[in-house]
Amino acid sequence: MADAVRLILLIYFHLSIISFNLAQDVDQFVYNGFLGANLHLDGIAEIHPNGLLQLTNTSKQKMGHAFYRLPLKFSSNSASSSESMSFSTIFVFVMVPEMQNLSGHGIAFTISPSLDFSLAVASQYLGLLNTSNDGLSTNHILAVELDTIRSPDVQDANENHVGIDVNSLNSIESASATYFSNTEGKNRSLNLVSGDPIQVWIDYNETETLLNVTLAPISSPKPNQLLLSTSINLSEILLESMYVGFSAATGTLASDHYILGWSFNKAGRAQSLDISKLPSPPPHRKAEKEPKVMIVVILVAVMVVIVTITVGTYIIRRKKYEEICDDWEREYGPQRFSYKNLYKATKGFKDRELLGAGGFGKVYRGVLPSSNLQVAVKKVSHDSKQGIKEFVAEIASVGRLRHRNLVQLLGYCRRREELLLVYDYMPNGSLDKFLFTNEKPALNWSQRFQILKGVASGLLYLHEEWEQVVLHRDIKASNVLLDGGLNGRLGDFGLARLYNHDSNPQTTHVVGTVGYLAPELARFGKATTSTDVFAFGAFLLEVACGRRPIELLGLPEEVILVDWVIECWKRGAILDASDPRLEGNYVIEEMELVLKLGLICSHSVPTVRPSMRQVMQYLNGDATLPDVTLESAAIGTFITCNEASDFVMSFPSSVGKGSGRSFCSIDSILTGGR
Ligand SMILES: *[C@@H]1O[C@H](CO)[C@@H](O)[C@H](O)[C@H]1NC(C)=O
Ligand SMILES: *[C@@H]1O[C@H](CO)[C@@H](O)[C@H](O)[C@H]1NC(C)=O
Ligand SMILES: *[C@@H]1O[C@H](CO)[C@@H](O)[C@H](O)[C@H]1NC(C)=O
Ligand SMILES: *[C@@H]1O[C@H](CO)[C@@H](O)[C@H](O)[C@H]1NC(C)=O
Ligand SMILES: *[C@@H]1O[C@H](CO)[C@@H](O)[C@H](O)[C@H]1NC(C)=O
Ligand SMILES: *[C@@H]1O[C@H](CO)[C@@H](O)[C@H](O)[C@H]1NC(C)=O
Ligand SMILES: *[C@@H]1O[C@H](CO)[C@@H](O)[C@H](O)[C@H]1NC(C)=O
Repeated sequence: MADAVRLILLIYFHLSIISFNLAQDVDQFVYNGFLGANLHLDGIAEIHPNGLLQLTNTSKQKMGHAFYRLPLKFSSNSASSSESMSFSTIFVFVMVPEMQNLSGHGIAFTISPSLDFSLAVASQYLGLLNTSNDGLSTNHILAVELDTIRSPDVQDANENHVGIDVNSLNSIESASATYFSNTEGKNRSLNLVSGDPIQVWIDYNETETLLNVTLAPISSPKPNQLLLSTSINLSEILLESMYVGFSAATGTLASDHYILGWSFNKAGRAQSLDISKLPSPPPHRKAEKEPKVMIVVILVAVMVVIVTITVGTYIIRRKKYEEICDDWEREYGPQRFSYKNLYKATKGFKDRELLGAGGFGKVYRGVLPSSNLQVAVKKVSHDSKQGIKEFVAEIASVGRLRHRNLVQLLGYCRRREELLLVYDYMPNGSLDKFLFTNEKPALNWSQRFQILKGVASGLLYLHEEWEQVVLHRDIKASNVLLDGGLNGRLGDFGLARLYNHDSNPQTTHVVGTVGYLAPELARFGKATTSTDVFAFGAFLLEVACGRRPIELLGLPEEVILVDWVIECWKRGAILDASDPRLEGNYVIEEMELVLKLGLICSHSVPTVRPSMRQVMQYLNGDATLPDVTLESAAIGTFITCNEASDFVMSFPSSVGKGSGRSFCSIDSILTGGR
């Protein structure tokens, strides 16, 4: 029994010590952490197991209060220091914004006559007042606000300020959050929502009626200079019995608001906090991790953008410069041009670089970037699947042809739907421009004769002087190009073959141009050297007469050039057929030779036509023209008007402009070796 009494007495004794400790001196307390602190909490305020006081979390429009549970006596003119208006307090807070610099609203150290804040509101009222009582002198409230939102309705200076509030959130004085660095001797700005602990000193001396406020990062000592020192007579504001504590609120923006430690004294300087004992500040989850995450996200985004742009550009360039190159083309490597180079050479196939548009495609002027060589690039649309191998083989062969009267084929390039053929650039363009249009000056006779001899020599090379027989298949003025020295050069050989692959094999059989087509070619579709000679005959007449082989717009008897020349010859005035633009300035023998040779070459019987070697001899004067009489040139033996016009009339729209073609299949431009 005695033991029991002793135990009860012991327990009572211990309890009384505890209660004595709590109530020992209500004018002064120090909380290095709030475990067991004599606090009244409301709203969403709570004390964490480690002693951390959390006033709000990031829930919107919430408030939280933590006040010393017992009222303190504030009274002026009191003899007792503990009942004066003076007070001193130190606390450490942390604000962790929801997102960096998106914080709200703030914390206020408060002296209030009541613990009941149920009618107060959050946001800019910081859980202290509401719209109807804000500013009333009956509030008897003093607060030092740490505000992270600029609320215009309470005249906030900025979104990171400290203010002294008397009965109103409209501060009587405020300042941006800065602190005086004792070591640096200057003010430094302080971010309230940095997520780092900040220490605050608030002192009021009744005699001086000065309210001093200072703050600094927890790592810094108390600054030698104050942030705010406000003259204020609290005896006109505070009541005798007051509660001290903290209020915090969130708005549409929110922060976690924490108090780590608090020291208060009504009778002298507040005791310093023991920084080492303070509960560890909340992890910087939002203040620090977010930016890191943001930086990573931004970096990743930037990289993705860069990669996308790079890859995109690469793909676009690939697409732009895309070409087809198959394995079997390797052997033609040297003749292969890259599309990129041709694209650059022709400035992207600009219309300004367009030299002309022939039957097979457009021709562009270009300058090869590597060699500065002027070239003509012919774009030929082509189905990449059909016969391309054979064609490229032929291109390669043709590329090996070298003659001063041939337009040199330098190489080719292949894309999906088109072929590009690269030729030597011929500065003077095609002969037909000189003969039939007024674009270029008329050529004199010696120039014309020179051109005829040159073209004949080029054709002779194709027929007889190269390792294989090469048929041109499309000799005509528009396919004869003039180089810088006005030498005639044959162009476009070999293209007939290409076109053949591309066109409908059922309906087209003959390649060539109406007016230059030998009758047997038109009939049987078989090209020979003889059919080339026939076309050359038409070409001779064309140059001598300055007229196209067939001109529908002329007088009826002049439609077929051959007929008309024969007509003149019959009249004994073959020279009448000569180009009037020459105005008679020609060597009569040469003119006669060319006209008669033109007729012989145009003979409807292939065997009567001379070979190109003979043609060369006649033109060079190394052989005399067989005595062609009117009898042997009797109508019916030369191509007849009927045959020609039958043929012409089936292509009326394309003839006359000189560009009409009918396309026929021909075996190959290379008709085997000799
Ligand atoms: C904030 O605290 C309240 C009360 O403790 C709780 O209901 C709410 O879910 C918390 N909000 C967040 C965002 O943690
Ligand atoms: C956040 O605010 C502080 C002070 O207001 C400023 O110094 C800092 O640059 C801001 N940070 C960002 C990311 O806006
Ligand atoms: C504001 O608060 C006061 C006192 O706490 C109360 O009397 C009043 O009704 C409140 N006003 C509103 C609009 O809530
Ligand atoms: C407040 O600051 C002023 C000026 O620095 C100083 O004279 C005064 O003693 C301070 N009062 C308290 C209570 O710290
Ligand atoms: C630092 O700021 C305080 C308060 O704004 C001001 O009174 C003081 O003069 C400033 N000190 C310096 C060195 O700028
Ligand atoms: C403060 O106000 C009270 C009451 O109005 C007055 O008695 C007192 O003298 C004032 N103190 C100072 C320092 O002006
Ligand atoms: C208030 O200021 C006066 C005069 O400067 C001084 O004598 C007194 O000790 C101060 N009181 C407190 C509590 O600091």
